[in-house]
Amino acid sequence: MRGGIMLPVVGVVLSATLCAGAGSVQAGQQAKKAGPKSEFVGSEQCRKCHKIEYDSWKKTFHSKIVMPRKGGILKEAVEKWAGDGANPGPAVGNVTGKAYKLEDVQYVVGSRWKQRYLVKNEETGNLQFMNMQFNRLTGKWEKYGQKNDWNTQCATCHSTGYRITAYDDKAGKTLKSEFVEFGVGCEACHGPGAKHARSKKKKDIFNPANVDVKAQSLLCGYCHIRLDNEQWKTAQGNPREDFPAPKLGETFRAAMIGRSGTPSMSPSPGSSPATRLTRSMPAI
Ligand code: HEC
Ligand code: HEC
Ligand code: HEC
Ligand code: HEC
Repeated sequence: MRGGIMLPVVGVVLSATLCAGAGSVQAGQQAKKAGPKSEFVGSEQCRKCHKIEYDSWKKTFHSKIVMPRKGGILKEAVEKWAGDGANPGPAVGNVTGKAYKLEDVQYVVGSRWKQRYLVKNEETGNLQFMNMQFNRLTGKWEKYGQKNDWNTQCATCHSTGYRITAYDDKAGKTLKSEFVEFGVGCEACHGPGAKHARSKKKKDIFNPANVDVKAQSLLCGYCHIRLDNEQWKTAQGNPREDFPAPKLGETFRAAMIGRSGTPSMSPSPGSSPATRLTRSMPAI
């Protein structure tokens, strides 16, 4: 990854390791459509015409959930990197088990309550977590053993314009994913905005103020709940904790939930866990 908030990131690079056990991706399981980049422009573009909203958003944690190490890492975590006196600081990557240093940290996740540290998994090209998280309230390091990568387990709620681009049905693993912007950008709540940024028309952008309370709750609930998704698995083969793109290759549009055309099998946040997600869900 080349750093910078606005760069598109291609998720899993098909590695020899993944392919060996997993078999090749079946025909029809590769996304054929143009990437979300053509529909999503990123928050910096919205800023040009909506400076007040942009400045306000910039101050919220939505814009800050994932930040590059430089500028994002907590000062206290850097000072205590080697240890807090009682507990050691982060030292290894959870998926590969290799040793990593402070300088290897590419991104940090969180800053308000806790912070977790992402280093590259050289085998997949994805981002994996380090073994300790910083608790900002206690100022101490705590164990964090999460063995899934960020791209296939967290990115759907921590990025904008997320979609799964390749899925291995046989092995039950996400192979590739991509997104447009780190963090909860304008388009996470307003839907893709490329058309609107060109036309400047109201009809080309979703405004949550215009829908009923149920639809508004579904929009926020997409991220503000957690589901054990039995239908889709992470690159490590564990259940994803999200409600992924409605269909392989389709960009998830949080803002479209609850609008007319939403498939009836879309699970409502807070509904029974028995509401299993299905990958044959039609595109919204
Ligand atoms: C080139 C200027 C321009 C850009 C870029 C732009 N907008 Fe707008 N936007 C406007 C204008 C002008 C209006 C008011 C339209 C009207 O009142 O008819 C508007 C209205 C809106 C509204 C209110 C819609 C409603 O139903 O009342 C939202 C929400 C919005 N923009 C979000 C965005 C987002 C998100 C982005 C970035 C993806 C964005 N805009 C980029 C010019 C822009
Ligand atoms: C794409 C995922 C996503 C969507 C959609 C989303 N949120 Fe969030 N929200 C997050 C994440 C992630 C955080 C945590 C950020 C952090 O603490 O670093 C957060 C934090 C918050 C916070 C605390 C932020 C602060 O600055 O104090 C509030 C309040 C909130 N969300 C409300 C909402 C509401 C209301 C909506 C719907 C209009 C919504 N969220 C939609 C992911 C999302
Ligand atoms: C279903 C959506 C969703 C998924 C998937 C998800 N998160 Fe979050 N995450 C949230 C929301 C929403 C919040 C804000 C909660 C709050 O502030 O009350 C949050 C908050 C956080 C915070 C605290 C931020 C802070 O500023 O203190 C961290 C750290 C975090 N998430 C890490 C992760 C990691 C790591 C993963 C993947 C293993 C993950 N999340 C997956 C939605 C999600
Ligand atoms: C967490 C979800 C979320 C994010 C992120 C978000 N918005 Fe909004 N936005 C909303 C909601 C909800 C409303 C409707 C508020 C209301 O009830 O009037 C809104 C309203 C607006 C409006 C209409 C304001 C008006 O006066 O009618 C504009 C313009 C807008 N947002 C632009 C942006 C831009 C630009 C960004 C990014 C810099 C952004 N929003 C990020 C949820 C979000």
